Amino acid sequence: MGKLSEYIGSQFGDPRGIVGRVCCFFMNRINQAMYLSIVSKVGERKCSRILDVGYGNGYLIERLRPVTRAVIYGIDISEDMKEAAENRNKNAVLSGRVRLSVGDCCSLKFRDSSFDAVTSVNTIYFWEDPVRGLKEIHRVLKDGGVFYNAVYSKEWLDKTKSYTEKGFKIYDKQDFIAFGIEAGFSDVVIEDIVEKRNYLVKFIKL
Ligand SMILES: C[S@@+](CC[C@H](N)C(=O)[O-])C[C@H]1O[C@@H](n2cnc3c(N)ncnc32)[C@H](O)[C@@H]1O
Repeated sequence: MGKLSEYIGSQFGDPRGIVGRVCCFFMNRINQAMYLSIVSKVGERKCSRILDVGYGNGYLIERLRPVTRAVIYGIDISEDMKEAAENRNKNAVLSGRVRLSVGDCCSLKFRDSSFDAVTSVNTIYFWEDPVRGLKEIHRVLKDGGVFYNAVYSKEWLDKTKSYTEKGFKIYDKQDFIAFGIEAGFSDVVIEDIVEKRNYLVKFIKL
């Protein structure tokens, strides 16, 4: 069981092949409240360009499309996920409404001040350097932009250690605040999604 749960845990950070797709399918079901919290925040804003970091199989992007008129960009380190996300958002990709690329969010190829909002669900645990990733997101956000980052709490991830022991970097609320301020954000506001289980970290660039 130890090795199996470790293998499944490794798929969350870098989903590959059929097992990666199956893991994403289950994530999509388990993490509904996290997607919904971001969809409702984005729906309240007027955006022309949005970036989703670590889009996985493109489920959040599919949910965002009806609530915004923005062009939605995505970046993920997994080639396999690009294919899965493109299939899920086929027509939007063909029309240019959704633009997906493979790459590391710690080194973004976008220009300064390109996006009104950046979104991400369950990815920051896998970034090599969270402050570098946040600095990059800060750079590509416009003034007044927000990075909506939905994450599981440290207490919750500690409870699922057999999956999260390897490959996950586990942070608490104070870490997110410190990282955000070090990366240059003006404010970091944290809202519970499901109490004690997960929350939305809003990194605000004024
Ligand atoms: C747990 S999955 C979450 C996928 C998706 N956000 C969702 O919730 O359905 C984490 C995703 O982050 C991607 N990822 C990990 N590190 C990354 C990085 N440094 N830059 C961009 N994407 C990354 C992985 O390839 C994977 O698709």
